[in-house]
Amino acid sequence: MRKNIVAGNWKMNKNLQEGLDLVKELQSAVFGKTLKCDVVVCTPFVHLASVSGLIDKNKVKLGAQNCADKVSGAYTGEVSAEMLASTGAQYVILGHSERRAYYGETSVTLSEKVKLALANKLTPIFCIGEVLAEREAGKQNTVVKTQIEEALFDLSADDFGKIVLAYEPVWAIGTGKTATSAQAQEIHAHIRQTVAAKYGQTVADNTSILYGGSCNAGNAKELFANPDVDGGLIGGAALKLDTFMPIVEAF
Ligand code: 13P
Repeated sequence: MRKNIVAGNWKMNKNLQEGLDLVKELQSAVFGKTLKCDVVVCTPFVHLASVSGLIDKNKVKLGAQNCADKVSGAYTGEVSAEMLASTGAQYVILGHSERRAYYGETSVTLSEKVKLALANKLTPIFCIGEVLAEREAGKQNTVVKTQIEEALFDLSADDFGKIVLAYEPVWAIGTGKTATSAQAQEIHAHIRQTVAAKYGQTVADNTSILYGGSCNAGNAKELFANPDVDGGLIGGAALKLDTFMPIVEAF
């Protein structure tokens, strides 16, 4: 069956020393605890190798926030999926709305990134979600379905089964506005149904679907109690132990 996952997306926050300090705190906080979810930290690229050396990956898992859509070569400034894997990273966030909005990422490039991540045994945390105008027009279900179809539906069922999805309504990211528990459940069920229609119920039932967007200590329990919400992708609240741990312990 599918896993519960709480993943922190640090975005472009924390220098190396600050990042290592937080990871050390997190590692001690989870030590000796039996958690009902996997805990992942998705750090900036330059922190990955150092964080990897610090963590016990049975307790805290490591992810990146992006990878290149090319294997290797003359692509100045890019970081390949193979490089990420060589640091010990296990996950990579792909298709975050900030990358789509500010760096022009499209389903075409994302499809390449997903394949390269899988080829390097990284688990993509693939983000989907509508903007406010789309939600207000009642188009959220169509938007997320199209995002999944365009970037992921050329995968085999076997490969699709290795992906984690994260529903992140853009209007809820960093705004303090969270989707209600009912809104989250409704669209997560729709996402699972979309996967089932293509790959069958077993693959759909085994796919972890995380919620992201102003998830915090106060709302995580209610969000995670929904049958189709399998954890969270956490931004702001992942930057401090005392705001992140209650979310980890919300299961
Ligand atoms: P916030 O939790 O800061 O709203 O960010 C969510 C997010 O974008 C995680 O990827």
